[in-house]
Amino acid sequence: MQTESNRVYSLCSQRILLRPWQESDAEALYKYASDPIVGERAGWSPHKSVEESLEIIRTVFNTPTTWAIVLKESNEAIGAMGYMPDCPLNLPAREGEPLVGYWVGKPYWNQGICTEALQLMLDHIRKKSDYTSLICSHFVDNPASGRVMEKCGFVPTGETAVDKDLYFGENRPMRVLRLELQTKTMNIRLEQPSDYREVENLTREAFWNVYAPGCVEHYVLNQYRNNPDFIPELDFVMEESPYPVSTRGGEDCHSRIIGHVMFSKAEITKEDGTILPAWTFGPISIHPDYKRKGYGLKLLQYALEKAKAMGIGVICMEGNIDFYRHAGFVVASTLGIHYHAEPKENEVPYFLAQELIPGYLDGIEGTYHTPKGYYVAFENKEDFEAYEATFPQKEKKQQEGQLVDDCTKNPNDQ
Ligand SMILES: CC(C)(COP(=O)(O)OP(=O)(O)OC[C@H]1O[C@@H](n2cnc3c(N)ncnc32)[C@H](O)[C@@H]1OP(=O)(O)O)[C@@H](O)C(=O)NCCC(=O)NCCS
Repeated sequence: MQTESNRVYSLCSQRILLRPWQESDAEALYKYASDPIVGERAGWSPHKSVEESLEIIRTVFNTPTTWAIVLKESNEAIGAMGYMPDCPLNLPAREGEPLVGYWVGKPYWNQGICTEALQLMLDHIRKKSDYTSLICSHFVDNPASGRVMEKCGFVPTGETAVDKDLYFGENRPMRVLRLELQTKTMNIRLEQPSDYREVENLTREAFWNVYAPGCVEHYVLNQYRNNPDFIPELDFVMEESPYPVSTRGGEDCHSRIIGHVMFSKAEITKEDGTILPAWTFGPISIHPDYKRKGYGLKLLQYALEKAKAMGIGVICMEGNIDFYRHAGFVVASTLGIHYHAEPKENEVPYFLAQELIPGYLDGIEGTYHTPKGYYVAFENKEDFEAYEATFPQKEKKQQEGQLVDDCTKNPNDQ
């Protein structure tokens, strides 16, 4: 991702100037940052001497994304505004998502100064970087800070976090907020036969080298559409809203499919041997250029709402709880559902479930079976290879985090 250059900018509004900290600000910094009420609210310890403040100006504040908030009227540094290009706190941040932080000296509170300074910095970030979102947090017992964030457009994510390494951080929950900077309008609609090849190509791009060198998920999807377990009403694509493209003949409208998800019928075998209908989804794909921008979650939440409206009772799936928790999933064993490929007594952290009908699993214990349709590439290797050969050549690579060293091997057989 392209970030800011090392160039240091000064930014100016009606009442304030944001400029780099200078060593001559040390006394002013000490005056405001030694007040225990300021640092404690933000999670850092009060400054104990002018020398300490000077050291902080030379080190912590010596970055192109940290500014002194200077009152134009008095030319005094009365606070700090900035962001860190990688979130160093224990927050549910997206990869490479910057963390915003600020404080203002107590005599200047509640005069709109922080809001003005944050707006100034946000305008600058919008112009000078291509960050797609920013994260911010404040201690729940410090609502004024949350108010500043919300006035500038940050929206609570619904999550709280604790970072014991912050000053007075232990057992002190922080509310998490996020500002989306560049979300494009995406349209979600049912997949059409004319989309099939584009969507299979997207699936191949999204899974390539992720879980194995190469991938088979595009073939799974290709085969699934003829499988009686496939649910056409839950076969969605996400596309960028049509945008005009100049062509020789004038203007044409183009929309690019950037996401896809499909659902399948599945089964849970109850302890007494009878079958409880269950459902699963996947592959779910977001094009690599659009990953980590919140689109996958939006697509999934949309599809889950539709699944719920169809009367689907429970969704089981294999995935990473850190992501799928945001869509309402929990580790399935906590609901009494076991994974077919693991011993019953094992807690399987990657096997997840969500009741769409509350109480659907009440009083039930059972074992979920991955539908056979997902094994199609492992069972028909030659057909898969012939299908794969219809796509442009792509280099298979061994990468960290892969589950198997050959994409036609079933990870459950390891
Ligand atoms: C948080 C802080 C930066 C706000 O600075 P500020 O210049 O006073 O902020 P603003 O005047 O722009 O906005 C403050 C808003 O909080 C509101 N507010 C103040 N006390 C509040 C309270 N107890 N509960 C709810 N809102 C409160 C104000 O009314 C104002 O909102 P409004 O304009 O809608 O009336 C300042 O209080 C501070 O430096 N605190 C200590 C350090 C800190 O908390 N940093 C942030 C760490 S996450």
